[in-house]
Amino acid sequence: MIRIALSGAGGRMGRTVYKSLIDSKEYQIVFGVDQYPTEDLPFPVYKSFEGCTLEADVILDFSSPSSLDGILDYAVKTGTKVVLATTGYTPEQLKRIGYASKEVAVFHSANMSLGINLLANLSKEAMKFLGDGYDVEIVETHHNKKLDAPSGTALTLANAINSVREKELDHVYGRRESAKRREKNEIGIHAIRGGTVVGKHDVMFLGAGELVRLSHEAESKEVFVRGALRAINFVLTKQTGLYDMNSILGSFYAVTSVSSEKDVSMLYFPSIEADHFIAILRGIKDADVNLDMISQNINLDGTLAVSFTLGDSDLAVAEKIVGDHPHTSVVGTAKLTAEGAGMEHTSGVALEVLSILKGLGTNIYAITTSETKISCCIDHSKLVEAESALKKYYGLG
Ligand SMILES: NC(=O)c1ccc[n+]([C@@H]2O[C@H](COP(=O)([O-])OP(=O)(O)OC[C@H]3O[C@@H](n4cnc5c(N)ncnc54)[C@H](O)[C@@H]3O)[C@@H](O)[C@H]2O)c1
Repeated sequence: MIRIALSGAGGRMGRTVYKSLIDSKEYQIVFGVDQYPTEDLPFPVYKSFEGCTLEADVILDFSSPSSLDGILDYAVKTGTKVVLATTGYTPEQLKRIGYASKEVAVFHSANMSLGINLLANLSKEAMKFLGDGYDVEIVETHHNKKLDAPSGTALTLANAINSVREKELDHVYGRRESAKRREKNEIGIHAIRGGTVVGKHDVMFLGAGELVRLSHEAESKEVFVRGALRAINFVLTKQTGLYDMNSILGSFYAVTSVSSEKDVSMLYFPSIEADHFIAILRGIKDADVNLDMISQNINLDGTLAVSFTLGDSDLAVAEKIVGDHPHTSVVGTAKLTAEGAGMEHTSGVALEVLSILKGLGTNIYAITTSETKISCCIDHSKLVEAESALKKYYGLG
């Protein structure tokens, strides 16, 4: 049973957490903290973490930024892990969260729904795809009791979009200066408050003659509870460090596909001048041959140690172009690729892939990586076994 200390126990989210866990066999709220009396809750509720004598495995916080110091002091003092779902922290408070996470594991996300985190990733892709020709505006809508504006999620979305830009867009909150035109380097962030809306976020890319709108709407508060429980399970596996929803998504989506290519050959040049190598590449291009995995290092004497792969059927053409320059041709190889959008947020994927391949006793002739992909050139004879071992390990059937 995971023991939870619920901070903000008497609030809307605190009560939603409590109701969701009434029949839980996995989670138990052992105590709560709330500045206001909450006698109706069936567990002890302290006014603050100071003087709190009960112990828990994890603090789940849905309160307000004013409770942060008390939470972090208690967590560091007692070694209790923390999930912070509260929004509206100042940059100074975010720094304090960072310091505390060096001593105890902390998970912080301004939005616990998986869908919103998908929206952030899609917004990044849209920004990369559409580029500077499109103006970006974010509009968020929340119930009339929400204290902070704009929402922490709107800021997270704006930061996600800026993270893939060379030059960051300046945040502009609302547009009160009516005589001023929109500047190119702006990202507009607008807050609407009213009624009982749980949370709606629209990211708009406005170009000449078209509008692309990415949208997410939370229909009930339970979606945040489900995400918070995932965060609890995740943070309990860590000792220290600062984590967010991408840490969870990354581990789900680190590898989502494993693919293979047969009949691959590799040419390896242990020492070649860059100019000579470029001349070889030009010859290969003129012969209309496609090269694939290019892997390169610089030797101490300034020459390149370089290899590339190509289809078996193109090997003879490539060898003719290379001529008698010292090289090794490796035939009977194959290419195996593991890919996943979450790889860039997950450490250790290369270690897992290489350990599995070595465990099967295959040679690994070349490795190339990108943020979301690892490709290995291995023995053709081991390809079927290796592909199925990786698929099994990553749950891909
Ligand atoms: N991360 C997410 O997915 C997510 C989802 C929903 C809400 N939130 C955030 O969670 C927080 C709480 O939302 P809510 O709608 O439940 O608000 P709420 O106002 O209904 O509840 C907050 C509770 O915290 C208590 N509290 C506030 N400051 C305190 C302090 N210093 N010490 C002790 N108790 C304190 C209040 O008395 C109140 O009972 C907000 O910051 C909100 O933006 C985050």
